[in-house]
This record gives sequence, structure tokens and C-alpha cells, in this order.
Amino acid sequence: MARTPPPEILLLEEIHPAADEILTQAGLRVRREANALDMTSLKKLAADTAFLGIRSKTTIDEDAVKSLPDLLGIACFCIGTNQVDLKTAGRNGSVVFNAPFSNTRSVAEMTIAEVIALHRRLFDRSARIHAGHWFKSARDAHEVRGRTLGIVGYGHIGSQVSVLAESLGMKVVYYDVASKMPLGNAQPLDSLKKVLAVSDVVTLHVPATPATSGMIGKKELGQMKPGAMIINNARGSIIDMPALADAIKHQSIGGAAIDVYPEEPQSNDASFHCPLAGLPNVVLTPHIGGSTEEAQESIARDVALKVARFFSTGTTTSAVNVPEVELPLRREDQLRILHFHHNVPGVLSTINGTLADLGVNINAEYLQSNADVSYVILDVDDYDESVIRQKLIEIPETIRIRMLR
Ligand code: NAI
Repeated sequence: MARTPPPEILLLEEIHPAADEILTQAGLRVRREANALDMTSLKKLAADTAFLGIRSKTTIDEDAVKSLPDLLGIACFCIGTNQVDLKTAGRNGSVVFNAPFSNTRSVAEMTIAEVIALHRRLFDRSARIHAGHWFKSARDAHEVRGRTLGIVGYGHIGSQVSVLAESLGMKVVYYDVASKMPLGNAQPLDSLKKVLAVSDVVTLHVPATPATSGMIGKKELGQMKPGAMIINNARGSIIDMPALADAIKHQSIGGAAIDVYPEEPQSNDASFHCPLAGLPNVVLTPHIGGSTEEAQESIARDVALKVARFFSTGTTTSAVNVPEVELPLRREDQLRILHFHHNVPGVLSTINGTLADLGVNINAEYLQSNADVSYVILDVDDYDESVIRQKLIEIPETIRIRMLR
């Protein structure tokens, strides 16, 4: 049965404090728990909360969603939402938000750093000094100015890399399955093969999909210019790592920077082996492309603002599991009814009929649906909230009702 939960947000996992002010200003009470919570603790500590703020270590599976029926929303203060059962959350009327682009710049900057580091063999030179050897040489060291950078996947990160690389005087070519507007003088090419053939360094910025799994294998590495280098700051499934290790050992590939791996440890201090370890001109990092303090702060602000807008106005823009509705500000003299219901025929007319029977005047109505859930918002002349609530709860398809006044 739909109930109005108290306006509290429980933030777990040391979410950046930049979130607090935004959430407090929106009228939410912020409570914090330092760690991720397991199912038992969730049931105990989150039972009365309106919103739950998590990062990647708290799992909200079907059971967890069902044990928190009053949850208005789950705020994922991170990029991915794999840790949440999105479908069940949607059917519970719990809106899920995340921050898909808040670390874009961090990844792009690290990529540029690696483009230069690989061209100058910085890590090898540095490792020698750390080991007590002086080795001053210009051999195999290059400026990046005038060299060609091939970008595979010209989305948020790829296009940022493109702009930064051109500012260093690089020539940029790219390949994307979708038609993307080239920024600056970047040149789109119509196949991966063409990008591989002309680039001095190739950087991958595609998502993990069946089509990108093993996208760079022995064949593709063989299509690259002799001595060219490759960067993978996207996902570990994209490069065939043994094939890359082989190509570096045989010097057909001149170096690599890798941030993501087919299998990654769950915790720090875990031992880790990678076929590229110890090879020349290889930079290995532990999936830190997006891990900067600036990105954490940006994630906190981005997600907190989405939660604040949803809480204050009902807007679900950029929610990942319920229909997106962008709403105008509510007029002070009107009551706003936010109604999630199962997406079956006839519910809207039942809602409208119910309000008409009560003599409630509807001034504006907004509706969006996905396969499972419909979200209807009605701005109505002021009326007794409890009467409307009682009538709408009686509609069997109702998932959740919230009123704003
Ligand atoms: P995005 O969705 O903005 O861009 C991806 C681009 O790849 C799109 O333009 C898409 O059309 C293109 N694409 C998809 N399939 C393709 C294919 N088969 N061939 C060519 N192009 C294809 O994604 P965004 O935000 O730029 O992220 C890119 C990658 O970076 C993702 O894999 C993401 O998981 C990863 N990432 C890694 C981080 C790290 O810490 N290392 C942090 C953030 C993102």
C-alpha cells in the first residue's frame, strides 16, 4: 500500500560531503553511515528512509527492494547501476539516479597523460632511476605534436580526449558506430581498420557490449602501424590481453597503457597478475581513470541535484529505471499529485474519472510510460489531500502516490 515516507536520505559509503548542502536545502534530512550495508543492516537502518544514497559496494537486489517498500528513490553516487535491481525498483516506484558523466574529464585527462608518457617512455625511464640506474637517451622518445591519435568510440570521453589532443597539436581520427559530430579538426573514418592503420596511438572509449568484447585481438593488433601504441581506459573485455602481451614482446606494438582488466579484484591489497606486467613501455593502473577528488565531488553534486529536483518537483529527468518526466515549477496555490502505476490500459482514465467524481479540477497533466511503469503527474486545484490519496490507493494498479503542496 502506498504511504508517504519521512523525508530522510541515508547516505552510505562515504559519499562526498558536497551532496549534503544540496539535499538539506531541498528539505531532506541527511543521515550517514560510513560503510556499505548488507541486507540485515539495510532492513534495520533504512526501514524508514525516503531515499538511499549508495556507491558501488551496497547491493540493492530484489529482496532488498521488496524489504524497503517506502523507498522513494535510490541515489547511486557512482557511474554504474549494476548493483541495483532496476526493474524491481521501478515496479516499487523507487526512482534510481546515477552520475554517468561526472568523471568524463578525469578519464580524458589520464588518457592524455598516458599518450605523452608512452611517447616519452616515461615509466621505463622512471623505473630505471628508481632501481638506481641513470639512463639518458632520446632513443624511441617522441613529441606528440604532429602524431596521429586514433579514438575508438567518440562519445563523452572520446570527444573530450579529441579536444585535448588537438590542443597539443595532435592529428585526431576516430571511429564510432554512431554518426558523431567531429570536434575541431578531428576526422571521422568509416572503419576500425582504417583508424588502426593510420594511428601512432589508439585509445579505446567504447562501452562493454557483445560487439566490443574482444574488439582488439591478434588480427586488429596486426592492423596497427608497426610500433604504434594502445590505451584502454574503457572496459577490460575489449582487448585480448594475451594477444597484446605477445605483440609487445615481439615489438610490433610499441607500448600500452591499461586501466581496466577482464577480471579485477574486489578489494585493495588483493594480489593481481596481468600478462603485461614487466613488459617494456607498459603503464598499468588499477581502474583509476575516473577516480579523482574532482570527479567524486562532481558525482555528489550531480546525483544530489537529481534527487533534490525529484523530491521537490517530481521531475525524473535522467532517472535510469522509470519514465523520464521534466516538470515545470508547481504553482503555490495548486496541489501536485505524483502517481506511479503499473502500465496497463485504462488507468489514466480511471484516475481522471476518480478526480472528476470528487469535483477536483485538473489544471495540467503529464504522463510518461515504460514497459512496466507509468508515471502521471497532475496539477490540481487545492483539495483535501487525504481524500484524494484514499481514492487513488483504491485503484488496484497504483504503485505509489506522493503529493506536493
Ligand atoms: P559514451 O556512451 O558517451 O560513448 C561510447 C561511444 O562508443 C558512443 O559514441 C558509442 O556510439 C560508441 N560505440 C559503441 N559501440 C561501439 C562499437 N562497437 N564501435 C565503435 N564505437 C562504438 O561512453 P563514455 O562515457 O565516453 O565511456 C566510454 C567508456 O569508458 C565506457 O566503457 C565506460 O565504461 C568507460 N569508463 C571508464 C572509466 C575508468 O575509470 N577507467 C570511468 C568512466 C568510464
